[in-house]
Amino acid sequence: MTRTVTLIPGDGIGPAITEACEAVLEAAGAPIEWDRQKAGTSAMEEGGEPLPDATLASIEQHRVALKGPLTTPLGEGFRSLNVALRKHFDLYVNLRPVKTLRPGGRYEDVDLVIVRENTEGLYVGIEHFIGMEDDPKAVAESVMLVTRFGAERIVRYAFEYALAHDREMVTLVHKANILKCTQGLFLEVGRGVAEEYEGRVTFDERIIDATAMQLVLDPHQFDVIVSENMFGDILSDEAAGLVGGLGFAPGANIGEDAALFEPVHGSAPDIAGKGIANPCSMILASCLMLDHLHEGEVAERIRSAVGGVLRGVEGLTPDLGGTGTTQSFARAIVDRLERDDSPV
Ligand code: NAI
Ligand code: MG
Repeated sequence: MTRTVTLIPGDGIGPAITEACEAVLEAAGAPIEWDRQKAGTSAMEEGGEPLPDATLASIEQHRVALKGPLTTPLGEGFRSLNVALRKHFDLYVNLRPVKTLRPGGRYEDVDLVIVRENTEGLYVGIEHFIGMEDDPKAVAESVMLVTRFGAERIVRYAFEYALAHDREMVTLVHKANILKCTQGLFLEVGRGVAEEYEGRVTFDERIIDATAMQLVLDPHQFDVIVSENMFGDILSDEAAGLVGGLGFAPGANIGEDAALFEPVHGSAPDIAGKGIANPCSMILASCLMLDHLHEGEVAERIRSAVGGVLRGVEGLTPDLGGTGTTQSFARAIVDRLERDDSPV
């Protein structure tokens, strides 16, 4: 059955990597039809709205979206559209699989998943300055918000994910030794959820700073990591660094009513329009989307073709030490998919 998915090419290198991604999905025979929509600075310039109603309506209707990077002006202008989308659709899970695709890095065969809470913590943006005497910014204060509801649903998601993907262990990271209320609640709720999965998924709890070090020393000891918002944000990028950087990192934002898949890098204004953007993250994001749509077999074929291309030098973009272009990279993946005639 063909599924319709909202496609948002986005800004900067977004349209180029989106085009590459479309070609790869087509060659793989993915049963997807696109509903193309606009968002970001490019949408702003065309219609005056960075996040048009038509785009939101399309995601509401199709419940699944694939999105390129969006440019967020620094300091002033509109708020981060990514944050706006997460809020609008209550996309409470940020899922970041971290897997070695290209050998020769610091570690071989890294394969872990970070499940990050996406709507609470310090990122709720409840903050203000307190003035004293003639200094209006004498003190700055931020609120770290943790709710029982939010902690429970994210930890439960991590355990359900582990069960569904044959993963053995969930590591909950926290700082409950210092932040006894917020982090203490997250840990307490997590322990409660973990009990329900006893005998099926192993539960491990660790302090965030020790986890950050252990991740660098030996990433193989982790399977699924679950965390509140900011710790998860930091660990996700750290873990991406273990497998070659943001160029290989896809992410998913998932809620009850919608799911949004995206590369984790930005719009790369420094190379936009030059035709040399690496389309890998976007293609891997589309694989996560295919997994979500129960098209895991097609996703695996694409991942294996991407892996095959990455083991060579043919067609690779300059960020990977190649002399190729976005198009030649995509072409190499398409060629592999077409050579591999195994039925989907
Ligand atoms: P960036 O990720 O766009 O770029 C950082 C560096 O990585 C640049 O040198 C860029 O050329 C390189 N790079 C990124 N993706 C690449 C790719 N696919 N192939 C080759 N090289 C690549 O981060 P930056 O410069 O901090 O942000 C630029 C804009 O993107 C900002 O407006 C930012 O707000 C936005 N952004 C959007 C995100 C999203 O929509 N999910 C995520 C991160 C940033
Ligand atoms: Mg981040």
